[in-house]
Amino acid sequence: RETHRNILVETRGRVGIITLNRPKALNALDEATLREVVSASAALDADPGIGAIVLTGSEKAFAAGADIKEMAGRGAPEMYLADWFAGWEAFTRVRTPVIGAVAGYALGGGCELAMMCDILLAADTARFGQPEINLGVIPGMGGSQRLARAVGKAKAMDMVLTGRMIDAEEAERIGLVSRVVPAADLLEEALGVAETVAAKSLPSVLAAKEAVNAAFETTLAQGVQFERRLFHALFATEDQKEGMAAFAEKREPRFTHR
Ligand code: CAA
Repeated sequence: RETHRNILVETRGRVGIITLNRPKALNALDEATLREVVSASAALDADPGIGAIVLTGSEKAFAAGADIKEMAGRGAPEMYLADWFAGWEAFTRVRTPVIGAVAGYALGGGCELAMMCDILLAADTARFGQPEINLGVIPGMGGSQRLARAVGKAKAMDMVLTGRMIDAEEAERIGLVSRVVPAADLLEEALGVAETVAAKSLPSVLAAKEAVNAAFETTLAQGVQFERRLFHALFATEDQKEGMAAFAEKREPRFTHR
């Protein structure tokens, strides 16, 4: 197994768990952390024994943003030539569903990383924000785009222009997260969601993630057609036969692909 400096990686049954673990910097996402998250998630994605991934941080912080100290002295040509933050796009190409579990701060790049997850759970202690405006910059890991798509213009503009932090209750109300749970239950709840997903037929899970994500990239007509084609293709799987037979026979399905 690869050794990592800023993250912990473990597996529990069919679930992979990546824990951001850079406590001295509240899990600030420096280059090393980016490389580790991308490589660990790609390895879990390639493992046919893994059906879902949980991404979490600490009690105090999911991640307090990109690493400000690492960026502070850089110039524009350097940022442009390195295409700073482009590396995170690899994380969004992971096909296995990623369950984000946020406790404490998810700020700047931390909020943006959370929004790259497929299902997002928040502890009641969670705080989300895009404070880049206070640093003389703007979000750079997709925040202006994913926040606008996730919660609409009103809340996105409010958060991005003022840098205001929102609490877990507001995050759920505006549709940024799907559930809020007591902090002590966060990991168990996230693992429960991950185990539920991982117990389904993997081809249908991957297709479902692709289909929902297409909603953000296509027109409605193209997206609906893309969905329908995936739906048709799933009729080539044993698991479609098994799933529908199990329904008719009033029993639990025994999927092959999981
Ligand atoms: N980058 C680098 N170091 C960070 C950091 C960050 N984003 N956030 C926290 N740290 C470090 C602090 O510098 C401090 O280190 P030292 O002990 O060496 O001074 C340590 O983590 C603990 O932080 P605090 O002492 O500040 O903890 P606190 O409880 O007083 O405050 C906080 C917590 C409100 C989250 C505060 O740390 C904070 O405001 N952090 C920065 C948040 C931010 O601006 N994030 C956006 C970053 S830019 C970005 O993300 C760009 C993008 O779009 C991708």
